[in-house]
Amino acid sequence: MKERFESSENIYNKISPTAWSVAYGRTFTDIPFSNEIYSELKNDNPAFLRLEKDGMLSARPVAVQFEARYKLINKLTKLNGQRQILELASGLSPRGMELSSQDCDVFVETDLPEMIDLKNDIVRKVLHHKNIALDGRLFIEHGNAIEPGGLAQAASHFKPNEHVCVITEGLLRYLDFDEKTKVAKNVISVLNKYGGYWLTSDTQTLADVPESHKTDNAKFSKLVGREISKNYFETPKHAEDFFENLGFTVKPYSFSEIEDCLVSPMRLGLDKKTVNEELSKRRVFLMRLKESNENNH
Ligand SMILES: C[S@@+](CC[C@H](N)C(=O)[O-])C[C@H]1O[C@@H](n2cnc3c(N)ncnc32)[C@H](O)[C@@H]1O
Repeated sequence: MKERFESSENIYNKISPTAWSVAYGRTFTDIPFSNEIYSELKNDNPAFLRLEKDGMLSARPVAVQFEARYKLINKLTKLNGQRQILELASGLSPRGMELSSQDCDVFVETDLPEMIDLKNDIVRKVLHHKNIALDGRLFIEHGNAIEPGGLAQAASHFKPNEHVCVITEGLLRYLDFDEKTKVAKNVISVLNKYGGYWLTSDTQTLADVPESHKTDNAKFSKLVGREISKNYFETPKHAEDFFENLGFTVKPYSFSEIEDCLVSPMRLGLDKKTVNEELSKRRVFLMRLKESNENNH
């Protein structure tokens, strides 16, 4: 059993450096802790420096999407005054630190062991430098989002009678449809137990990828060892149907809704058309379980 778990982790470990590129994109934003996380990441990290040398970390308009999805998801976590949050595949995202410094009672974030151990180390250093204590509010745990039961340890931190908001930002696009289904089943088991909803920005369709990103897809496929273009939804309806067939109601929110709160377009010197191309076709889905709708609001 242990052997199987380790080998399945190895498959997914190749995806982890994508979190570094998102962390870099966030340095063009005003998202709290982004610069601190990035400068800790750069310290003494040969694998990171290789990625930088390979040109995977150039400043690109996609940073606008990173900023929009982060801020839109944050806004949607607050819809129902959600106080318990579970973020899967959190990579180097500062959300756990940001929201547990505010009004979130329990924030649990998970990723693959290698990635989340690095994250834990970085978070510890950043919080120490800033003299912030989040003990008992922020939990950073190993958790393979695809393994059945992979979230059990993470979920054990939640109070039983309070809803949980589950977040996946930037994970599902790397997974094939069978793997996406496995993640959804894990989310369903959490929502069945606690109630709440699932937020994901991972709803993109291949047709909607801006031309400028298509070459990136080829590079990224090589980097992560998987054919990314096969993992996109075919159409926006395909994306909605996929989650509805798994038992969710789906409410889409356009990235454009958050445009007024973005600072990266100005920092990257982007024109309105480019920004619109980055945002207008991308959506975050807010999903609740169909069967327990009335208990979930
Ligand atoms: C593009 S990064 C996104 C990270 C973060 N959510 C963000 O927006 O910055 C994808 C993340 O998925 C994680 N990942 C890949 N496969 C995973 C799995 N099976 N279970 C949990 N995390 C996984 C990687 O380690 C990486 O941190």
